[in-house]
Amino acid sequence: MNFHNFAKSHRSIRKYKEKKVPVEILDKILETGTMASTSGNMQAYSIIVTTDKELKKELLVPHFNQEMVTQAPVLITFCADFHRMREWVRISGGENNFDNFMSFMIASIDATLASQNVALAAEAEGLGICYMGTTLASCDEIGRILKLPQNVVPIVGFSLGYPDETPEFRERLPMDAVIHRETYQHSSTEEIKEIYSKKEESGFKRYMEVPELREKIESLGIDNLAKIYTTLKYTEESHIGYSKTVLDYISSQNFM
Ligand SMILES: Cc1cc2nc3c(=O)[nH]c(=O)nc-3n(C[C@H](O)[C@H](O)[C@H](O)COP(=O)(O)O)c2cc1C
Repeated sequence: MNFHNFAKSHRSIRKYKEKKVPVEILDKILETGTMASTSGNMQAYSIIVTTDKELKKELLVPHFNQEMVTQAPVLITFCADFHRMREWVRISGGENNFDNFMSFMIASIDATLASQNVALAAEAEGLGICYMGTTLASCDEIGRILKLPQNVVPIVGFSLGYPDETPEFRERLPMDAVIHRETYQHSSTEEIKEIYSKKEESGFKRYMEVPELREKIESLGIDNLAKIYTTLKYTEESHIGYSKTVLDYISSQNFM
């Protein structure tokens, strides 16, 4: 399969075979991850690989009880990390310039780029992954469990293992909606409706196929996908709460 077809065959995997991931394969995909572009070649990130059953059980609650946390043989947490670099700078008599928001952003981007390299490398080895946004939403609790020092913050994470399901392809927005040629192209109301029309259909159907969700959607009188996103999945209350968690944690981790 050529690279484009391979990358386009991606599906998030939430159910895994019991089969372990051999250490050589794990090391191979992690090494590929570390070859991702990185700001100033600083590699301001750390990759925490969790396979221990007890530790994964502890991580289950901050990951909102998503079964894949304990079911997958491996859980990987990618952290923004200026701890190591700052120590090196300090030992070398350099100035401390990395305890600020800009450094946090640089390290977060580095961590995310490395994570996607590992994800692609894993998929190339026949493994499956599923990112978990709970890594950031519960960064404080996950940071405590993973014993993170100052200037280290969990940003993205995913479950990893051999797929035990073949999920359907999830519709993406049309190319024209996300690609802007030369400058930003503003869309009219009609164009916005058109952009989301396919997703509206397949997405709404998918949520309605889950009995517990269907019950909630019907009892709340939700009649479209946009409202599922804002009334059920990403409520104002939850997002304000997570924003506070992240801001408080990056501040307590000495990034502000
Ligand atoms: C940053 C990020 C966080 C995500 N968090 C979750 C999550 O917590 N639980 C989950 O089941 N899927 C999660 N996903 C997976 C998305 O739901 C999935 O990528 C999207 O629906 C598209 O489906 P596909 O990856 O199969 O193409 C996350 C994806 C990303 C990139």
